[in-house]
Amino acid sequence: MKQLSASALTRTLDRQSLLESIHVRKAIPEDVYEIYRIASSVGHKSKDSDKGFLVDDYKSNPSKYKEMFLPRIFELEHFYVAHTANRPVAFLMAYDKADWLRHNPDWLDEIYWHPAFDAKHTKKFVLVDKTAVCSGLTGMGIGSKLYERLISDITAKGITDVFAETIISPIPNFASLNFRKKQHYELAGVRYEEYNDDILTDLVYHKKV
Ligand SMILES: CC(C)(COP(=O)(O)OP(=O)(O)OC[C@H]1O[C@@H](n2cnc3c(N)ncnc32)[C@H](O)[C@@H]1OP(=O)(O)O)[C@@H](O)C(=O)NCCC(=O)NCCS
Repeated sequence: MKQLSASALTRTLDRQSLLESIHVRKAIPEDVYEIYRIASSVGHKSKDSDKGFLVDDYKSNPSKYKEMFLPRIFELEHFYVAHTANRPVAFLMAYDKADWLRHNPDWLDEIYWHPAFDAKHTKKFVLVDKTAVCSGLTGMGIGSKLYERLISDITAKGITDVFAETIISPIPNFASLNFRKKQHYELAGVRYEEYNDDILTDLVYHKKV
Protein backbone atom coordinates (compact mmCIF):
# COMPACT_ATOMS: atom_id res chain seq x y z
CA MET A 1 0.00 0.00 0.00
CA LYS A 2 1.26 3.50 -0.85
CA GLN A 3 2.19 5.36 2.34
CA LEU A 4 0.87 8.93 2.60
CA SER A 5 2.70 11.68 4.45
CA ALA A 6 0.90 13.59 7.25
CA SER A 7 0.31 16.59 4.97
CA ALA A 8 -0.97 14.35 2.15
CA LEU A 9 -3.33 12.66 4.61
CA THR A 10 -4.80 15.97 5.81
CA ARG A 11 -5.14 17.18 2.19
CA THR A 12 -6.87 13.94 1.16
CA LEU A 13 -9.29 13.74 4.08
CA ASP A 14 -10.83 16.63 5.99
CA ARG A 15 -10.04 16.64 9.75
CA GLN A 16 -13.32 15.06 10.82
CA SER A 17 -13.10 12.24 8.26
CA LEU A 18 -9.47 11.68 9.17
CA LEU A 19 -10.34 11.40 12.87
CA GLU A 20 -13.18 8.97 12.06
CA SER A 21 -10.75 6.83 10.05
CA ILE A 22 -8.37 6.57 13.04
CA HIS A 23 -8.50 3.38 15.09
CA VAL A 24 -6.47 2.35 18.08
CA ARG A 25 -4.94 -1.08 18.58
CA LYS A 26 -2.08 -2.57 20.57
CA ALA A 27 1.34 -2.06 19.02
CA ILE A 28 2.88 -5.08 17.28
CA PRO A 29 6.57 -5.68 16.45
CA GLU A 30 5.95 -4.81 12.78
CA ASP A 31 5.03 -1.26 13.91
CA VAL A 32 8.49 -0.49 15.23
CA TYR A 33 9.69 1.44 12.17
CA GLU A 34 6.51 3.58 12.07
CA ILE A 35 6.71 4.19 15.84
CA TYR A 36 10.28 5.33 15.38
CA ARG A 37 9.21 7.56 12.45
CA ILE A 38 6.45 9.18 14.57
CA ALA A 39 8.84 9.69 17.52
CA SER A 40 11.48 11.27 15.30
CA SER A 41 8.91 13.61 13.69
CA VAL A 42 8.40 15.32 17.08
CA GLY A 43 11.63 14.31 18.83
CA HIS A 44 14.63 15.90 17.21
CA LYS A 45 17.25 18.54 17.95
CA SER A 46 15.04 21.61 17.71
CA LYS A 47 12.30 21.71 20.34
CA ASP A 48 9.06 23.57 19.62
CA SER A 49 7.37 24.45 22.93
CA ASP A 50 4.07 25.38 21.29
CA LYS A 51 3.68 22.32 19.10
CA GLY A 52 5.16 19.93 21.68
CA PHE A 53 8.16 17.66 21.53
CA LEU A 54 9.75 14.48 22.83
CA VAL A 55 12.92 15.07 24.82
CA ASP A 56 15.15 12.58 23.00
CA ASP A 57 16.70 13.33 19.61
CA TYR A 58 15.53 10.18 17.83
CA LYS A 59 17.26 11.13 14.59
CA SER A 60 20.65 11.08 16.31
CA ASN A 61 20.75 7.28 16.55
CA PRO A 62 17.95 5.45 14.66
CA SER A 63 19.06 1.91 15.48
CA LYS A 64 19.43 2.64 19.21
CA TYR A 65 15.89 4.01 19.41
CA LYS A 66 14.31 1.25 17.31
CA GLU A 67 16.03 -1.22 19.62
CA MET A 68 14.57 0.68 22.58
CA PHE A 69 10.98 0.48 21.27
CA LEU A 70 10.96 -3.15 20.15
CA PRO A 71 11.28 -4.86 23.57
CA ARG A 72 8.73 -2.41 25.00
CA ILE A 73 6.18 -3.62 22.41
CA PHE A 74 6.63 -7.16 23.75
CA GLU A 75 6.84 -6.15 27.40
CA LEU A 76 4.12 -3.55 27.86
CA GLU A 77 0.45 -4.35 27.96
CA HIS A 78 -0.45 -0.72 27.32
CA PHE A 79 1.54 0.23 24.23
CA TYR A 80 -0.92 1.40 21.56
CA VAL A 81 -0.81 2.82 18.07
CA ALA A 82 -3.46 4.99 16.44
CA HIS A 83 -3.61 4.10 12.76
CA THR A 84 -5.47 4.92 9.60
CA ALA A 85 -5.65 2.24 6.90
CA ASN A 86 -3.32 0.26 9.19
CA ARG A 87 -0.63 2.93 9.00
CA PRO A 88 0.34 4.14 12.50
CA VAL A 89 0.20 7.92 12.92
CA ALA A 90 0.51 8.15 16.72
CA PHE A 91 1.43 6.03 19.71
CA LEU A 92 1.02 5.91 23.47
CA MET A 93 3.40 3.90 25.64
CA ALA A 94 2.34 3.29 29.25
CA TYR A 95 3.76 1.15 32.05
CA ASP A 96 2.00 -0.69 34.84
CA LYS A 97 3.41 0.24 38.26
CA ALA A 98 5.56 -2.91 38.53
CA ASP A 99 7.07 -2.46 35.04
CA TRP A 100 7.72 1.24 35.63
CA LEU A 101 9.44 0.70 38.98
CA ARG A 102 11.53 -2.12 37.54
CA HIS A 103 12.95 0.38 35.01
CA ASN A 104 12.91 3.38 37.40
CA PRO A 105 13.20 1.96 40.93
CA ASP A 106 13.67 5.39 42.61
CA TRP A 107 10.88 7.20 40.80
CA LEU A 108 8.41 7.43 43.69
CA ASP A 109 11.14 8.62 46.08
CA GLU A 110 12.46 11.26 43.65
CA ILE A 111 9.19 13.20 43.51
CA TYR A 112 8.57 16.31 45.61
CA TRP A 113 4.90 15.61 46.20
CA HIS A 114 2.29 18.36 46.22
CA PRO A 115 0.99 18.82 49.81
CA ALA A 116 -2.57 18.01 48.67
CA PHE A 117 -1.58 14.80 46.89
CA ASP A 118 -2.77 11.63 48.63
CA ALA A 119 -0.24 8.78 48.53
CA LYS A 120 -3.05 6.22 48.31
CA HIS A 121 -3.07 6.97 44.55
CA THR A 122 0.34 5.32 44.17
CA LYS A 123 -0.87 1.87 45.26
CA LYS A 124 -1.78 0.71 41.78
CA PHE A 125 -1.27 2.88 38.70
CA VAL A 126 -0.17 3.20 35.12
CA LEU A 127 2.35 5.78 33.99
CA VAL A 128 2.06 7.20 30.50
CA ASP A 129 5.70 7.51 29.49
CA LYS A 130 5.34 8.76 25.93
CA THR A 131 2.50 10.03 23.78
CA ALA A 132 3.36 11.23 20.31
CA VAL A 133 1.25 12.20 17.34
CA CYS A 134 2.95 12.51 13.98
CA SER A 135 4.02 16.07 13.29
CA GLY A 136 1.30 17.77 11.19
CA LEU A 137 -1.52 15.69 12.71
CA THR A 138 -1.52 17.09 16.26
CA GLY A 139 -4.48 18.96 17.73
CA MET A 140 -7.05 16.83 15.85
CA GLY A 141 -8.18 14.52 18.64
CA ILE A 142 -5.83 11.59 17.95
CA GLY A 143 -4.05 11.85 21.32
CA SER A 144 -7.45 11.87 23.05
CA LYS A 145 -8.46 8.71 21.17
CA LEU A 146 -5.34 6.94 22.44
CA TYR A 147 -6.24 7.96 25.99
CA GLU A 148 -9.82 6.67 25.59
CA ARG A 149 -8.46 3.22 24.74
CA LEU A 150 -5.94 3.24 27.59
CA ILE A 151 -8.58 4.26 30.11
CA SER A 152 -11.07 1.69 28.90
CA ASP A 153 -8.43 -1.09 29.21
CA ILE A 154 -7.10 -0.10 32.63
CA THR A 155 -10.50 0.43 34.24
CA ALA A 156 -11.46 -3.06 33.07
CA LYS A 157 -8.43 -4.26 35.10
CA GLY A 158 -9.42 -2.23 38.16
CA ILE A 159 -6.70 0.43 37.74
CA THR A 160 -8.00 3.96 38.24
CA ASP A 161 -4.84 6.05 38.80
CA VAL A 162 -2.81 7.45 35.91
CA PHE A 163 0.45 9.42 36.04
CA ALA A 164 2.30 11.33 33.34
CA GLU A 165 5.16 13.81 33.34
CA THR A 166 5.65 17.04 31.40
CA ILE A 167 8.95 18.86 31.05
CA ILE A 168 8.99 22.54 32.03
CA SER A 169 12.74 23.25 32.08
CA PRO A 170 15.10 23.87 30.34
CA ILE A 171 12.40 24.02 27.62
CA PRO A 172 8.70 23.91 28.54
CA ASN A 173 6.34 21.69 26.57
CA PHE A 174 3.29 23.96 26.35
CA ALA A 175 1.32 21.61 24.04
CA SER A 176 1.72 18.84 26.60
CA LEU A 177 0.73 21.16 29.49
CA ASN A 178 -2.43 22.13 27.57
CA PHE A 179 -3.12 18.49 26.83
CA ARG A 180 -2.80 17.57 30.54
CA LYS A 181 -5.39 20.25 31.32
CA LYS A 182 -7.71 18.95 28.60
CA GLN A 183 -7.28 15.43 30.00
CA HIS A 184 -8.19 16.68 33.53
CA TYR A 185 -4.87 15.80 35.10
CA GLU A 186 -3.95 17.47 38.39
CA LEU A 187 -0.50 18.46 39.53
CA ALA A 188 0.87 15.80 41.90
CA GLY A 189 4.49 16.86 42.26
CA VAL A 190 7.79 17.89 40.71
CA ARG A 191 10.81 15.80 39.79
CA TYR A 192 14.33 16.66 38.69
CA GLU A 193 16.19 14.25 36.45
CA GLU A 194 19.70 14.17 35.07
CA TYR A 195 19.80 13.99 31.31
CA ASN A 196 22.89 14.41 29.09
CA ASP A 197 24.81 16.67 31.52
CA ASP A 198 21.70 18.73 32.14
CA ILE A 199 18.99 18.69 34.80
CA LEU A 200 15.42 18.51 33.57
CA THR A 201 12.44 19.68 35.62
CA ASP A 202 9.34 17.56 35.13
CA LEU A 203 5.87 18.25 36.47
CA VAL A 204 4.30 15.02 37.67
CA TYR A 205 0.61 14.85 36.84
CA HIS A 206 -2.00 12.48 38.20
CA LYS A 207 -5.58 11.74 37.29
CA LYS A 208 -8.23 9.46 38.70
CA VAL A 209 -10.35 7.81 36.04
C1 LIG B 1 0.64 16.38 23.17
C2 LIG B 1 0.00 15.47 22.12
C3 LIG B 1 0.28 14.02 22.41
C4 LIG B 1 -1.54 15.68 22.19
O1 LIG B 1 -2.15 14.88 21.19
P1 LIG B 1 -3.14 15.58 20.16
O2 LIG B 1 -3.68 14.59 19.21
O3 LIG B 1 -2.48 16.77 19.58
O4 LIG B 1 -4.27 16.05 21.18
P2 LIG B 1 -5.83 16.20 20.94
O5 LIG B 1 -6.06 16.72 19.56
O6 LIG B 1 -6.53 14.97 21.34
O7 LIG B 1 -6.13 17.31 22.00
C5 LIG B 1 -5.69 18.59 21.68
C6 LIG B 1 -5.31 19.29 22.94
O8 LIG B 1 -3.94 19.10 23.21
C7 LIG B 1 -3.32 20.35 23.43
N1 LIG B 1 -2.50 20.62 22.23
C8 LIG B 1 -2.12 19.73 21.32
N2 LIG B 1 -1.36 20.33 20.37
C9 LIG B 1 -1.27 21.60 20.74
C10 LIG B 1 -0.64 22.71 20.19
N3 LIG B 1 0.07 22.65 19.05
N4 LIG B 1 -0.75 23.90 20.83
C11 LIG B 1 -1.46 23.98 21.95
N5 LIG B 1 -2.08 22.96 22.53
C12 LIG B 1 -2.00 21.79 21.92
C13 LIG B 1 -4.48 21.32 23.61
O9 LIG B 1 -4.92 21.24 24.94
C14 LIG B 1 -5.54 20.75 22.75
O10 LIG B 1 -6.84 21.04 23.21
P3 LIG B 1 -7.84 21.83 22.26
O11 LIG B 1 -7.94 21.05 20.99
O12 LIG B 1 -9.11 21.87 23.03
O13 LIG B 1 -7.19 23.16 22.07
C15 LIG B 1 0.45 15.83 20.67
O14 LIG B 1 0.18 17.18 20.46
C16 LIG B 1 1.92 15.52 20.40
O15 LIG B 1 2.26 14.40 20.08
N6 LIG B 1 2.79 16.54 20.49
C17 LIG B 1 4.20 16.34 20.21
C18 LIG B 1 4.86 15.38 21.21
C19 LIG B 1 4.53 15.74 22.63
O16 LIG B 1 4.60 16.90 23.03
N7 LIG B 1 4.16 14.73 23.41
C20 LIG B 1 3.83 14.91 24.81
C21 LIG B 1 5.05 14.73 25.63
S1 LIG B 1 5.02 13.17 26.46
